[in-house]
Amino acid sequence: MQLVHSGKVRDVYADGADLILVTSDRVSVYDVVLPTPIPDKGAVLTQLSLWWFEQLADVIPNHVISTDVPEQWAGRAIRCRRLEMLPVEFIARGYLTGLGLAEYQKQGTVSGVKLPDGLVEADQLPEPIFTPTTKATEGHDAFISFDDVAAEIGWDTATYLRETTLEIYRRGSELAAQRGIIIADTKLEFGRAADGSLVLADEVLTPDSSRFWPAVQYQPGRAQESLDKQFLRDWSATLTDWDRTPPGPEIPADVVTATRERYLDAYERITGRPWQG
Ligand SMILES: Nc1ncnc2c1ncn2[C@@H]1O[C@H](COP(=O)(O)OP(=O)(O)OP(=O)(O)O)[C@@H](O)[C@H]1O
Ligand SMILES: [Mg+2]
Repeated sequence: MQLVHSGKVRDVYADGADLILVTSDRVSVYDVVLPTPIPDKGAVLTQLSLWWFEQLADVIPNHVISTDVPEQWAGRAIRCRRLEMLPVEFIARGYLTGLGLAEYQKQGTVSGVKLPDGLVEADQLPEPIFTPTTKATEGHDAFISFDDVAAEIGWDTATYLRETTLEIYRRGSELAAQRGIIIADTKLEFGRAADGSLVLADEVLTPDSSRFWPAVQYQPGRAQESLDKQFLRDWSATLTDWDRTPPGPEIPADVVTATRERYLDAYERITGRPWQG
């Protein structure tokens, strides 16, 4: 099989007309991939995405063909349709954080949407908003307007995918909330199939593509604990001899264990299934 893309976390292979999306156990902090893997992370992200694709199948078709993949990737790879990906990150936000917080503090808007005065970090927004960004500028994401998206992919497609993005966010956050997790925001990717139809692709509502906050610790007015990488970030913040450029440091065993437990915990809470990796 031919390797067509190797990202920080995933390797993508072509198998005839299909793609095999392999999610590794690699983990990054401050955009630097660390030399120590987190056991089961790739499988957890893969199984969680598969679970969400099924939950959301009545909202929009997805790229999953099957889990029939070469033995060495079993459990952490998906056989999927090879799509022409749209050059937009489709993002929905329900809380004030990250790039949205930065813009709000400067000018009272998020992605051009005027918000009420007096909101603080991590506050819930009056309603979820659609805040797309470009896809090419990895690491330096910038909001683009709805009109920019429409110019890129057409008005009808942009309108449909804005509604679909918000619907997936609403569904996902409602379900996660029942299980003690706040989904502050999420990024989706869509592509076009050969017949022109629009398809949900990549990964869905995972800790890598979304901000998951444990509801019991939620407190507006400060930065929130993220369910997955908090241990890693806390640990890496204690390192005085690493300047956050590659190569990253080895992760100590207890931090690996704690981080792995967080990923498993997110999977088990959201799906309601025990982890059987
Ligand atoms: N069904 C699909 N058809 C074609 N491309 C897809 C499909 N699903 C996902 N992709 C693409 O596969 C790639 C997944 O790789 P990965 O997530 O590791 O890399 P990335 O998001 O580009 O980030 P980075 O390389 O910075 O880690 C993305 O470019 C994604 O857009
Ligand atoms: Mg990706």
